[in-house]
Amino acid sequence: MITTTGLSKVYRSRGRAVTALDGVDLHVREGEVYGVIGQSGAGKSSLIRCINLLERPTAGTVTVDGQDLTALAGRGPRAGRELRQARSRIGMVFQHFNLLSTRTVQDNVELPLEILGSSGKERSRKALALLDLVGLADKAKSYPAQLSGGQKQRVGIARALAGDPKVLLSDEATSALDPETTRSILQLLRDLNRQLGLTVLLITHEMDVVKSVCDSAALMAGGRVVESGTVSELLATPGSELAAALFPVGGEATGDDRTVVDVTFHGEAATQPVVSQLSRTYNIDISILGAAIDTVGGLQIGRMRIELPGRYEDNVVPIGFLREQGLQIDVVDRAAPQPALPKEGAK
Ligand SMILES: Nc1ncnc2c1ncn2[C@@H]1O[C@H](COP(=O)(O)OP(=O)(O)OP(=O)(O)O)[C@@H](O)[C@H]1O
Ligand SMILES: [Mg+2]
Repeated sequence: MITTTGLSKVYRSRGRAVTALDGVDLHVREGEVYGVIGQSGAGKSSLIRCINLLERPTAGTVTVDGQDLTALAGRGPRAGRELRQARSRIGMVFQHFNLLSTRTVQDNVELPLEILGSSGKERSRKALALLDLVGLADKAKSYPAQLSGGQKQRVGIARALAGDPKVLLSDEATSALDPETTRSILQLLRDLNRQLGLTVLLITHEMDVVKSVCDSAALMAGGRVVESGTVSELLATPGSELAAALFPVGGEATGDDRTVVDVTFHGEAATQPVVSQLSRTYNIDISILGAAIDTVGGLQIGRMRIELPGRYEDNVVPIGFLREQGLQIDVVDRAAPQPALPKEGAK
């Protein structure tokens, strides 16, 4: 539904060039909720602004719903009209809502319909139906200043839906909201995704957002996509930073000559017998440092962090045994490189 190939963006100001996007290939399938996460400055907002052509890409292509938007940009009045039409099929939700304070809630939702040239009657019918959809039917005549943050974002979402978009882009839509309101807005996006078959691309700082609503995710760093895939693909990728963040287990090695291993199992598989078998077969003492079972992207996942005596070289055979049992095994490297993920609580 959304495909970018070799998408690059270089900002130039006062003789300085900043590469915000450096060859991004992204593929968002129809009907999925896709999360993009990354540290501040990674290029997330640039990506979203280039996808809806608010920002002109320096190189590469953007295709939305089969239409190459980059080919339409800057190609005369007819292509310009097509581009405007294509863009009206892309809804955009912002962190700070961007509502007009002098207009009522209903008039804010009607704004894109005015631009599209709908009649007054049609505008009002549509706006009221959308406000009903986002649970704000009774606020049509209120002004933005009379609403809570969560309600303002609902208005923002209703407005984004006015042009019957197939795609909704959201840049940090929940970052200005408290955790409870965040949950309700995410639930709304999930419901709209299901009910309307809307494809949602959302940008976020928060791993929890990805965890609760996304089918797929990408991690950005330095203007590039460094990891991407469906949540289950990511969880099955050894060493995936996103997988570790989506599903963390705690526990530190108790000494230098120890090997720490994360054992991941999906669904029903049980690790308990495997661990005791391992212990008996190789006559080693195994400590469990941490364990958790959780639902990530609708999948039930279990993970256990265990510690084996001896260094990695001493444990090649037992680790091989675990792999043979069909379990996913990640050896936890204590000299791990600098993470590309935002730190907890970072803004
Ligand atoms: N209009 C602009 N002119 C010049 N440089 C820009 C512009 N917009 C963004 N940049 C630079 O491009 C890089 C990527 O910025 P971008 O806003 O895409 O990051 P981000 O991942 O959205 O960050 P945040 O999480 O803080 O919102 C940064 O180095 C930023 O300073
Ligand atoms: Mg940003």
